[in-house]
Amino acid sequence: MTIESIRTVAVLGAGTMGNGIAHVFARRGYIVILRDVEESFLVRARQTIGQNLDREVKKAKIEEGDKPKILARIQMTTDFSQIARADFAVEAVPERLDLKLSVLREADKLLRPEVVLASNTSSISVTTLAAATGRPDRVIGMHFMNPVPVMALVEVIRALQTSDETFHMTMALCERLEKKPVAVNDAPGFVSNRVLLPMINEAAFAVMEGVATAEAVDAVMKLGMNHPMGPLELADFIGLDVCVNILDVLYEGFGDPKYRACPQLRKMVAAGWLGRKTGRGFYGYAK
Ligand SMILES: NC(=O)c1ccc[n+]([C@@H]2O[C@H](COP(=O)([O-])OP(=O)(O)OC[C@H]3O[C@@H](n4cnc5c(N)ncnc54)[C@H](O)[C@@H]3O)[C@@H](O)[C@H]2O)c1
Repeated sequence: MTIESIRTVAVLGAGTMGNGIAHVFARRGYIVILRDVEESFLVRARQTIGQNLDREVKKAKIEEGDKPKILARIQMTTDFSQIARADFAVEAVPERLDLKLSVLREADKLLRPEVVLASNTSSISVTTLAAATGRPDRVIGMHFMNPVPVMALVEVIRALQTSDETFHMTMALCERLEKKPVAVNDAPGFVSNRVLLPMINEAAFAVMEGVATAEAVDAVMKLGMNHPMGPLELADFIGLDVCVNILDVLYEGFGDPKYRACPQLRKMVAAGWLGRKTGRGFYGYAK
């Protein structure tokens, strides 16, 4: 399979990441088959993509007339069998191993054998995911960042089994999407979360120990280190539950206590203070 022969891309899951991934492929001329389990999720995804395209028109990133063309390239479906036409596939279903395995196994049965199956997982071993399919050399991690239409990085994760051909094609495909792919090998947290989450965790420890307020920790990192967002503001954006889950992956994956999640983070998750999405985390948000 060559990169030139990729015309139609299946995106599995139309949530936060899936709608963004569909958006960037369609913006670059690909036909997208966007699959989710319920019609209402697809309706919501189309609305979100429409709003994000409007923003791009305002910023002159695309022309007004491009919007309907881009939307027309995204075919929404709840019927899994529709993905059989795809020349490349990206899964973006929720971060649960059992769910990812079942979706990948099903997709593996439906897609032509030569098609690459990429996962947008942020913490699950791509090697484990690859091993669950009959095409382990054509499985790879494509870790897009949120919000996908805006963020340049794609962390491209090579599973132990990923072939050179799959790897080079995926890197080239990211370039075609006008993204900046960075290659990493499969390891807990890859690079992005292995470096980011200990910083967020340490910031939470500093607050728990009364070293400084959340505002002060974030101000130090923004004003002193030139970070556009403070670590705790970012944690609220990511979701504190997601942060704790990723820390647990690092803790278990390396067996190293330096990754143990801050008890205060766990307590906040137990209280349902998950950050922006619940209106309360380290900061309060109007709902
Ligand atoms: N949200 C982020 O900031 C972020 C960043 C990078 C990577 N990720 C990763 O991206 C993936 C998706 O995360 P998200 O935040 O978009 O989740 P989400 O919950 O917003 O969306 C997931 C979507 O998948 C759908 N889904 C569930 N089962 C399905 C199935 N069998 N077939 C098709 N669709 C199905 C759900 O209905 C939902 O709409 C996860 O692996 C996550 O770790 C998330």
